[in-house]
Amino acid sequence: MVRTTPFFIIGNWKSNKTVESAVQWFQDMQTLWRKEPLDMTGVTVILCPSLLHLTTLTSLVKLFKLPLQFGAQDISANLSGAYTGDVSAEMLAPLVEYTLVGHSERRKYHAENETELQKKVDQAAKAGIEPVYCVQDAKMTIPDNCKIAAYEPVWAIGTGKAETAENAGQVAGQLKARHPQITTIIYGGSVTHENVVSYVQTTSLDGVLPGGASLEAQKFYELIRQVAQTIRTPT
Ligand code: PGA
Repeated sequence: MVRTTPFFIIGNWKSNKTVESAVQWFQDMQTLWRKEPLDMTGVTVILCPSLLHLTTLTSLVKLFKLPLQFGAQDISANLSGAYTGDVSAEMLAPLVEYTLVGHSERRKYHAENETELQKKVDQAAKAGIEPVYCVQDAKMTIPDNCKIAAYEPVWAIGTGKAETAENAGQVAGQLKARHPQITTIIYGGSVTHENVVSYVQTTSLDGVLPGGASLEAQKFYELIRQVAQTIRTPT
């Protein structure tokens, strides 16, 4: 299957893992990688752990020579100052290349609205962090200064009931038509190593965003392997 742009795999750990279990994941991944390194041509893997683990994990990734980049799960809407609990773009910039913005769990549990999300996108952009803007259906608005969006229907998140690749591809097409600035559309919602191939084979999709399937190194490695293999298989 020929793709002209990289296929993204964005692992979202959400509010899971202690420092100890995060380090264990990296050790497990390193063991798998040493046993069978994968040809990652055309595949970009981004891991979004808790912000708490970023300093440790960015050192480990270099030490273990793993082909992973990092993303934040969220970013402050404000530059810096009296915003208790917020982690700003400036703080994140040395550690991450990407950040999720507007994940449905942030919208639901932290009442994040479009005005606030636009501010988050602006802060990320100013600091050179690429926002991955999450929308839950084809009708939602994506800020003009976003190039990457993730389509994540709420009913598919954490339920084991993934959206079909065909439907996800159609929504991706609609989103791209409504937002010509978007170059990359990623699908998220119950993606696993067992169903990922169908998304890779859908040309209007440019990546996947697995949550649960990123928590075990073995399953995440298998998912990456499926993607890397599918990309190299001639159609
Ligand atoms: P899930 O989560 O893969 O566990 O469904 C995806 C997400 O919410 O990003």
